[in-house]
Amino acid sequence: MTKLDLTIKISRKVGYYLMQHWGDTKEVKQKSSFSDLVTQHDKIAQKIIIDSIKNHFPNDGILAEEGVFENAENLWVIDPIDGTINYIHGLPNFAISIAYFEQKKPVFGVVYSPVLNEMFVGIKNQGSYLNGEKLRIKSKTKLEETVGSVGFSNNFTGLFISKIENKVRRIRILGSAAISACYVGAGKFDFFISKNANPWDIAAAFLIVKEAEGKILNLSGNEPNPLEKGSFIFANPGISNKILEFTMI
Ligand code: 2AM
Ligand code: CA
Repeated sequence: MTKLDLTIKISRKVGYYLMQHWGDTKEVKQKSSFSDLVTQHDKIAQKIIIDSIKNHFPNDGILAEEGVFENAENLWVIDPIDGTINYIHGLPNFAISIAYFEQKKPVFGVVYSPVLNEMFVGIKNQGSYLNGEKLRIKSKTKLEETVGSVGFSNNFTGLFISKIENKVRRIRILGSAAISACYVGAGKFDFFISKNANPWDIAAAFLIVKEAEGKILNLSGNEPNPLEKGSFIFANPGISNKILEFTMI
C-alpha cells in the first residue's frame, strides 16, 4: 500500500471511530487555557494513526499535536482532531489532518471531515481533490463577491472582521483551521486567515490549497513554511494582496 493510500484508509477509520463519540465526550482536559482542550478521543485517534504509520513505515518520524514531536527526513504531521471544541459540542466542523513531508517539503496532505464525508487530498505536482473531484480555484477580483473566514486569536479576529466585514459578502467562522483552509482550495471560501497556527493545524491543508492554485502568504506577504508556527493567509489569487492589506492592523 502506498503512503497516501494508507493515509486515506486511516482517516476513514478514525473518522468512523470519532463519529461514535461525537458530542458525547466524558473526559475533557484543559491544556494551556480554558479554550485549549483535549479529550480521550484526541488521544485514542492519535494513537490509532501513529500505530498504523509506525507499523507500515517504522523509520518515519511523527510530529503530532498531542505530545509527539519527532524530527526526521520522512515526517508525518498529524492533528487527530482539528476543531476539538466543535467535536465536544456536537458541532459538525472537525477533521482529521495528516500531512507527509520529505526533507521538509510537503509530498501529500489529507484532511477528512467525517460528518460531511468530505475527503480532501493534495498531492505535490498532481493537484488536489475533494472526494475524487479535482479542485481548481477560479480567480476572483471583486471583494464584494467574496466569502471568507478568520480563526480565533486574541485581539486580531475582532479587529480584522470590523475592518473587512462591510467590504465582503460575509464572514463565516467554522472553528477548524484545516477545514477552513481546505474550503479556500475548494472555492467555498475565498480567503481564510489562521493566526499563530501550529504545523499540525495547517500542514495538510497547505498542499491542498497550493495544488488548487490558491495563494498562501504570511503577514509579510511571503510564502510561509508549513513546518513552522506562524500566521497563514489562504486566498483566491485574485484578492490575496487585498486581504493581506486588511491584516495590517
Ligand atoms: P484544535 O481544534 O486542533 O485545537 C479553532 O479556532 C481552530 O484554531 C482549530 O483549528 C484549533 O485547533 C486551532 N487552535 C486552537 N488553539 C489554537 C492556538 N492557541 N493558536 C492557534 N490555533 C489554535
Ligand atoms: Ca487538535
